[in-house]
Amino acid sequence: MTEVVNVQYPEPRARVQAMMEYHPPLGCRDTLRLDFNENTLACSPRVRDALGRITAGSLTRYPEREPVEAIVAAHLGLAPAQLALTNGVDEAIHVLFESFLDEGDELLLPVPTYTMYEVYASATDARVVSVLADDSLQFPFERLLAAITPRTKIIALANPNSPSGSVATRAQLLELAARAPHAVLLVDEAYFHFHGETVLDLIGKIPNLIVARTFSKAYGLAGLRLGLLAGPIELMRWVKRVLSPYSVNSLALACLPPALEDTAYLDWYVSEVLAARTEFEAALDKSGIRRWPSRANFVLIEIGALHKEFTRLMSAAGVLVRDRSSDPGCDGRVRITIGTREQMRQAAATLSEALSALRIKGGSL
Ligand SMILES: Cc1ncc(COP(=O)(O)O)c(C=O)c1O
Repeated sequence: MTEVVNVQYPEPRARVQAMMEYHPPLGCRDTLRLDFNENTLACSPRVRDALGRITAGSLTRYPEREPVEAIVAAHLGLAPAQLALTNGVDEAIHVLFESFLDEGDELLLPVPTYTMYEVYASATDARVVSVLADDSLQFPFERLLAAITPRTKIIALANPNSPSGSVATRAQLLELAARAPHAVLLVDEAYFHFHGETVLDLIGKIPNLIVARTFSKAYGLAGLRLGLLAGPIELMRWVKRVLSPYSVNSLALACLPPALEDTAYLDWYVSEVLAARTEFEAALDKSGIRRWPSRANFVLIEIGALHKEFTRLMSAAGVLVRDRSSDPGCDGRVRITIGTREQMRQAAATLSEALSALRIKGGSL
């Protein structure tokens, strides 16, 4: 091959060059993965059966999203035109931001929160306005209200929020929507099943409300990449225009109806996680670790200066947890996904050993 000198590559947009990079940590085999808030067990067996029925011939065809959208809409009490299936909520966020955020617009975010809002916003020409929660990590409602300006175009809220597990009330969400009628209020209900409260019933009644849901958490389908956006038809038509017609693949579409039908499996998994959360929180309290109250399938704990060493020790002992120290206001804090009671007993034992090792080494927690 001839050597090429002075190679010049085409430049990407300046926005993209300045964009935040996101590198999800890689999991290892034979570990208990408590670092992504996934379902830690399995999806419904009906999904596995549906996968087994997929034929080689069916894979030759482009996926058809609309018939499955109609099933999901009926399941949620919505009209099909009020709903779009997406390649996970991540694509939903991306497409919503592409559809609505222009130069000079503001994206209003309470922080800390889900990182991808800022990542996707940084690919647009909008400005991110962050409102930092206080040490309680409760929803900073009053300060968010005060941060609304005529330029606010999207207010993005995860409810429950990550990594704190804190929630905004329905009354607070209604007030935010009413005080920013010129902005889209995105309520990301990724962890809805563990919280049990929703504003999905207000779709179409509140003109600027859009709700996101994922099938990656309680349903256990993170590998299939399935999410949705629901909102008034007048907003969803723009989202649907930007959304790729084929981003949800046919395997995911084939699995979604059986996953929705198996409500017994979903209810069982959620109640198992809630029981495990209560037990695990009691174990944390016993060991004197500070924790934040959580309405989701994870809990944020305070480790302090030894957070890196702690996550390393946990990982070496086969339990992956997520150091959230680089999140705003989260230095020294670690997030742990809640799985089944059996898994969380293992996690609690490993955590107790890691803490003892750190204390023995003379570290101050
Ligand atoms: C608040 C929130 N929204 C969305 C997602 C991503 O969902 P999906 O897997 O559907 O892209 C996550 C994942 O951790 C999350 O925490």
